[in-house]
Amino acid sequence: MEPKHVVGLMSGTSADGIDACIVKIYPDFSFSFIDGIVYPYPENIKDTLFKIFQNQTSVEEICRMNFAIGECFAEAANELITKTGVKPDLIGSHGQTVWHEPGKNTLQIGEGAVIAERIGALTISDFRTADIAAGGQGAPLVSFADEIMFKKDNKARAIQNIGGIGNVTVVAPGIDSFAFDTGPGNVIIDYCAKKYFNQDYDKDGLLAAQGKVDEEWLNTLLSEHYYRKSPPKTTGRELFSVSYIETALLSAPESPYDIMATVTALTASTIFNAYRDFVFPVTQIDEVIIGGGGGFNSVLMEMLKNKGLNVLKHEDFGISDKFKEAIAFAMLAYATYYRIPNNVPSCTGARHTVVLGKVSYNP
Ligand SMILES: Nc1ncnc2c1ncn2[C@@H]1O[C@H](COP(=O)(O)OP(=O)(O)O)[C@@H](O)[C@H]1O
Ligand SMILES: [Mg+2]
Repeated sequence: MEPKHVVGLMSGTSADGIDACIVKIYPDFSFSFIDGIVYPYPENIKDTLFKIFQNQTSVEEICRMNFAIGECFAEAANELITKTGVKPDLIGSHGQTVWHEPGKNTLQIGEGAVIAERIGALTISDFRTADIAAGGQGAPLVSFADEIMFKKDNKARAIQNIGGIGNVTVVAPGIDSFAFDTGPGNVIIDYCAKKYFNQDYDKDGLLAAQGKVDEEWLNTLLSEHYYRKSPPKTTGRELFSVSYIETALLSAPESPYDIMATVTALTASTIFNAYRDFVFPVTQIDEVIIGGGGGFNSVLMEMLKNKGLNVLKHEDFGISDKFKEAIAFAMLAYATYYRIPNNVPSCTGARHTVVLGKVSYNP
């Protein structure tokens, strides 16, 4: 094995845009972060994606979008390569999830062959399918990187990503790591920010900060069955869909600010309750390490601290909060390149380890 420059490309459930990073990875999986950029989706691409999420589309459109999104991912990689002047040996691309039925099927679009052709670098994509084929949920895959980054120092840690959906990996001395989705991260917050304030998201939590939490509505929202299911479990827009959110909003308080405060509290409560019900019975937690865009929402961060959690950020460990997941996909690609198994069965529920991903060779 040799050190390699690897580009990691990620776009999550929020579909806010493509996070692209370039890292140098060493055979012991230590890495140095070189740079990262965010490539926002063009508006028309984003609109079509949301149509696909709502199942208002055709096979033809999904097929076209597989190539169009592939071009976007290639464009994101290209911008980063131009900015840094570093040519990657390898690219790991998560793609854009358009459908995910945990343990049954999943589809990430953004054709790897297009990326490999445009950039001229071997590209590994479609990471989730092999885990599902082996009986796993196909998620969370980031646990592979979480173990490398945080399973050390004799500390019990919950690594909590807050993207569109919230997901946690628990690493602690003497136990098998485990992981699951806690519930909505920003998906409901973003929807309400758009609906009531015509904003893509609640920047720094400024909208939620002006409202108060409606405890009664919060309790109604917390009655969702998913929160009581035992891990391993993962979720997505298939559950927390537009019609799900619209139905929930039928019993919402009048003030849009109170709505923002309450859906933000929902994210904080589902995270805390998930630890109470599924993590603390297994291990105490020394540190909760937040990553993903939700970490920039100060109201949400305050709510988590007020629940008594010892909240840190990836930055406290010298790792970019914004690009953590993109770094994880660079690491997964590096492992796949060397045929090192890179799912974590105790986290995804797979029957055995597999080498994730498919290879598009560079021409
Ligand atoms: N400054 C900010 N303040 C509040 N929320 C933010 C901020 N920056 C990003 N976010 C939230 O994070 C989301 C994107 O997070 P990200 O980690 O990229 O999620 P995903 O992996 O689902 O794409 C945005 O949709 C938004 O809700
Ligand atoms: Mg994103």
